[in-house]
Amino acid sequence: MKNMLVTGGCGFIGANFIRYLLKESDYTGHIINVDNLTYAGNLENLADVGIDYPEQYIFIKADICDRNRIMKIFEDYQIDSVCHFAAESHVDRSIVKPDAFIQTNIVGTFNLLESAKTRLDHIIRFHHISTDEVYGSLGKEGYFTETTPYRPNSPYSASKASSDHLVRAFHKTYDLPVTISNCSNNYGPYQFPEKLIPLIILNALEGKSLPVYGDGENVRDWLYVRDHCTAIWKIMKQGKNGDTYNVGGDSEMENIKLVEMICDVLDEMDRFPDKRSRRNLITFVKDRPGHDRRYAIDFGKLSRELNWFPEASLETGIRDTIKWYMENQKWVERVKSGEYQNWIRTHYA
Ligand code: NAD
Ligand code: TYD
Repeated sequence: MKNMLVTGGCGFIGANFIRYLLKESDYTGHIINVDNLTYAGNLENLADVGIDYPEQYIFIKADICDRNRIMKIFEDYQIDSVCHFAAESHVDRSIVKPDAFIQTNIVGTFNLLESAKTRLDHIIRFHHISTDEVYGSLGKEGYFTETTPYRPNSPYSASKASSDHLVRAFHKTYDLPVTISNCSNNYGPYQFPEKLIPLIILNALEGKSLPVYGDGENVRDWLYVRDHCTAIWKIMKQGKNGDTYNVGGDSEMENIKLVEMICDVLDEMDRFPDKRSRRNLITFVKDRPGHDRRYAIDFGKLSRELNWFPEASLETGIRDTIKWYMENQKWVERVKSGEYQNWIRTHYA
């Protein structure tokens, strides 16, 4: 791989992945980062990368829904590999207004596949990043495996499921060398503070209420973003064409327990002057419609076949994440200005 197209590289996971590839991995080729900078895309996430790796890193502001533009980028930069992150990624937004999810997640992915198809002889890897949410919801027992039937419940997960099917179909029909990864909930540096963990950290730091949906007993498996990046790179290099790999963090927890844990770690690191516990800020709010009860991932295939295991425990990952948000207040202030305010105002009104 010499000319890798990374889509959505200015978002949370994409930015972490580009940083990992350039700073820590054995990848020595170019990265062409295509992102149209939606509310979730932030050039600042990679500002230092542009300066430190001027030969290797190229940014292009473009929409993956613009087929002609994407086709031209494949030609101009002689793309030989793709790591596709670009998506609308927030379930709550998909419930309020699913339109952009259908466009970017389905049509955008289709455009990338069509573009890759025109260069079939040159493409050695098309890796598609997906989610465990395509499998639907679990009861108290069991885990999602790569053979669990798809049963998406939100417009977000339905759009991701649709894109997964298209990617798989392009492998079966045209022999495009694809791999797909379905991962659990990521957390870590640079995550936009509409998702649970950064939202809770920032609200707790400011003494604002901590909204927990429903009874707080929904369970998620938490994957530290750096562990996700090492998994993606392994799959891109060693994964079997046409295969899917589940990626999990081995860190299942009820939302309420997770929120309490964040409160306790923050109290320990940065106590309120009046010594009151941040747990007092927890507020149970109206549940999300169609709220999936439990996600849990069996990542045994990735461990057995590619020798991948997550390194971070939830405890260390949460501590590192809290530390990052505390040390990057300027980033937080800028990200939380503008559109973010509108979302918080209308969503929690
Ligand atoms: P994010 O919302 O932080 O970032 C998405 C990025 O895509 C942004 O930079 C945005 O500007 C860009 N983008 C959106 N629409 C675009 C378009 N039409 N053209 C070009 N760029 C566009 O998302 P994330 O959390 O980094 O997620 C990345 C991928 O991982 C997504 O495909 C998501 O479905 C998947 N995923 C995320 C999680 C998670 O916990 N965050 C879990 C499982 C899977
Ligand atoms: P989220 O971070 O939105 O990820 P996803 O919906 O993709 O799993 O939410 C994680 C869990 O936290 C989910 O069960 C919904 C819940 N949640 C809250 O309880 N309060 C909140 O303010 C948010 C954003 C999420």
